[in-house]
Amino acid sequence: MPSSFQDLLIDSPAPHILRLTLNRPEARNALRVQLLAELAEALRQAEADDQMRCVVVTGGPKIFAAGADVREMADVATAAAVSEQRQASWRTVHDFSKPLVAAVNGYCLGGGNELAMLCDVIVAGDDAQFGQPEIKLGMIPGAGGTQRLTAALGKAKAMKFVLSGEFFGAAEALATGLVSEVVAADKVQARALELAGLIAAKSPLALRLAKEAVRHASEAKLAEGMLLERQAFNVLLTSDDRREGLAAFLEKRTPNFKGR
Ligand code: HXC
Repeated sequence: MPSSFQDLLIDSPAPHILRLTLNRPEARNALRVQLLAELAEALRQAEADDQMRCVVVTGGPKIFAAGADVREMADVATAAAVSEQRQASWRTVHDFSKPLVAAVNGYCLGGGNELAMLCDVIVAGDDAQFGQPEIKLGMIPGAGGTQRLTAALGKAKAMKFVLSGEFFGAAEALATGLVSEVVAADKVQARALELAGLIAAKSPLALRLAKEAVRHASEAKLAEGMLLERQAFNVLLTSDDRREGLAAFLEKRTPNFKGR
């Protein structure tokens, strides 16, 4: 891997296992365009590398990711200009054919939760907090959150969280099936690597087909919903409420939404 990665730490903690660590702690690992592009590039390289059989995605011991970068999104011109680039990076994550294990500590919000949900297995610490807080910014999830959260939690819970932006903890994430397992916060990395090791020891061909087949069960009808989500997201991109929501967050005040 090239050393030009800025927002991502890359290591191989065990044979056949690649670990990608989101590394913008000062911005709570907000998923700026650069970070997403690096994630996509690392996955493209892992895809082509026969030695790599399983990838662990993590944010480290304190936080997974606080979602899209609010500063970047606050500038409509930038947000619109980078939209296609962001989508391309998300597509690369979605299309990655090898197993992805998310190791989640702390906040896992917005685009961060969408990234976790794109992973095949999620190991969460008992300190993890999940949520889709976009509505608090006058926005909606834009990388599959409305679809995948609903698939995982069911309509009643997904509506509660998508409409209110309220966070929920690891126990609820486990009970609702959002995550694969919950362990003590300081055991997340070890357990994720243990599972990755079990996975990496299996036939790469069987893994790829197993992943594809399990995905099909939950994603066969997803494409239509994703399109609808994208259209709704784009409508909100130029709304006054979105501008107000993002500005209020950055100015640390309560937003005053007008419905425009
Ligand atoms: C940019 C962010 C950020 C974000 C936090 N920061 N989240 N910067 N984008 N998403 C920055 C803050 O501005 C602050 O910078 C620093 O990180 C620390 O944040 P605090 O709020 O002081 O930290 P803390 O009290 O620990 O609270 C953590 C938090 C909170 C609960 C995660 O920061 C938070 O609610 N963040 C926003 C979460 C959110 O709304 N996500 C959705 C984004 S929209 P300074 O400079 O003040 O130190 C989204 C859309 C997806 O994801 C669409 C995909 C296409």
